[in-house]
Amino acid sequence: MTKKINNKFAKLVKYYNLINYNLVYNNQSINRYNKKPFATNKKKLEKLEKLIITISSIKNCELKKNANNLVFADGNPDASVMIIGEGPGANEDKEGLPFVGRAGQLLDKMLNSINLNRQNVYISNVVNYRPPMNRKPSEEEIKRYLPFLTKHIEIINPKILVLLGSTALNAIIGNQEVISKARGKWTQKQIGLCKTEVIASFHPAFLMRQPDQKKLAWIDLKMIRKKLFDLKTKIET
Ligand code: URA
Repeated sequence: MTKKINNKFAKLVKYYNLINYNLVYNNQSINRYNKKPFATNKKKLEKLEKLIITISSIKNCELKKNANNLVFADGNPDASVMIIGEGPGANEDKEGLPFVGRAGQLLDKMLNSINLNRQNVYISNVVNYRPPMNRKPSEEEIKRYLPFLTKHIEIINPKILVLLGSTALNAIIGNQEVISKARGKWTQKQIGLCKTEVIASFHPAFLMRQPDQKKLAWIDLKMIRKKLFDLKTKIET
């Protein structure tokens, strides 16, 4: 049984090694895998690999049944900043990487505006398989994936956690406040074994629909930049 699982997921783990050792984001896929490897310690990578295997082994999940790929993460596992989106869309499902579609392009621009990029942040989602027809993940699905997300955050252990949109906000903080009220505020939160500074902001897909809200997202980005400075965080450039 263990052997069967090992064989089944060896490819996925290999793929994970590939993306997380060598990935640099670039629109041209040909240039994606050509940057220096991240120096993540072996133990951390092993924990991440184990988590991938655990998520892949989920049973009776409508999301998994309808998806082409597990979308685990992108970016630097040693980053001080971890970003959580909602769930993969069609492009992400196809490529097996988060935020590679139009919302991802906007996210990259937003990050770049405060000197961040996929070499110095880590990106994942509340759910790891694409919800059919791009619907929002249900409460039940969010609950089901939350232990994986908690473990993921615990392994990465970021100093700053950025929640993009209401699904990530609700999963991590709860639904006492709507995103327009909750954004742009720092709260300290213990997530599993990880104590981190949390901020919510608008999801880039929402900003594409409501560009006039970008000015508020810019305030949030500046807050992240200031927090990194205040925490004396060294950012790889
Ligand atoms: N939207 C998300 O929330 N996550 C992705 O990975 C892509 C789009």
